[in-house]
Amino acid sequence: MASSQSSRAAGGRMVTSRRITIREVLRADDPASGKAHDLISRTFRKTELVGRGEWRRTLEEREAGFETDVRWHLVVAERAGTVIGVATGTYLADVNTGVIGYLAVARAARRLGVGPKLRTRLRSLFRRDARQVRREPLQAVVGEVRRGNPWLRTLVRRDGVLALDFGYFQPRLRPGSRSIRLVLYYESLDRVRHRLPSALIRNLLYTTWQRIYRIGRPLSNPAFRRMLAELDKRTSVGKLRLEDLPAYQNGNGH
Ligand SMILES: CC(C)(COP(=O)(O)OP(=O)(O)OC[C@H]1O[C@@H](n2cnc3c(N)ncnc32)[C@H](O)[C@@H]1OP(=O)(O)O)[C@@H](O)C(=O)NCCC(=O)NCCS
Repeated sequence: MASSQSSRAAGGRMVTSRRITIREVLRADDPASGKAHDLISRTFRKTELVGRGEWRRTLEEREAGFETDVRWHLVVAERAGTVIGVATGTYLADVNTGVIGYLAVARAARRLGVGPKLRTRLRSLFRRDARQVRREPLQAVVGEVRRGNPWLRTLVRRDGVLALDFGYFQPRLRPGSRSIRLVLYYESLDRVRHRLPSALIRNLLYTTWQRIYRIGRPLSNPAFRRMLAELDKRTSVGKLRLEDLPAYQNGNGH
């Protein structure tokens, strides 16, 4: 996929850009993988980063033909050989849902529509996974964002995602770090939804923690139990309204 050659950037100035290509990285020895990891390392806090070896090993497994019903994708945006954007995500066949991991665009290339294009490509890959693994349409795409991140407001406004109104935690990603409180958003693709049954969210959380974060026993984790305790008091969860979301706080991180 290639973008148009010029766009209007923040402040209204026109930016003439060289051709931008969006593609999935499929090989462990593709240098774009390391460059993409450099970009997320510059964008997110250390406590929010997975090691770069993790990406390489996942690509190696797939190249060796070990494909399961959990399908991980790495998508990059490149301009003149430079990685200017990256998105990662995992399709979980158990819950027929795609989970967005990282989404980052280099500062100099922001507000040109690269982030939405990366997201669109990931969504198409999840749709293909759903057709191949489940033989049915993809149910949803979910992601985790800090409450004060302007991107969350944009997703609610532009894509109509549900910013779920409950205390979501992302488990710690590295030894020594802690679970982080984020907002879980839900983009429903099979039908219009204004609320989600708590039972659906419970399932989604359990599968995400186990299959993506590789936490063998989520129920033994205090942050997971806190989320469950809150969900168990409710039959369904609604959405945060735009006016509930704080104005811009920090451009970096989830
Ligand atoms: C979020 C991000 C990927 C958007 O990519 P993009 O290519 O700039 O997207 P767009 O061209 O649609 O840019 C416009 C949107 O970016 C968001 N944005 C602008 N500045 C931002 C910043 N400093 N931080 C986060 N989001 C910002 C706004 O939501 C804006 O929407 P608006 O124009 O309706 O206000 C990019 O800003 C980024 O890399 N931010 C830091 C990492 C991050 O927050 N990732 C998302 C959570 S995982």
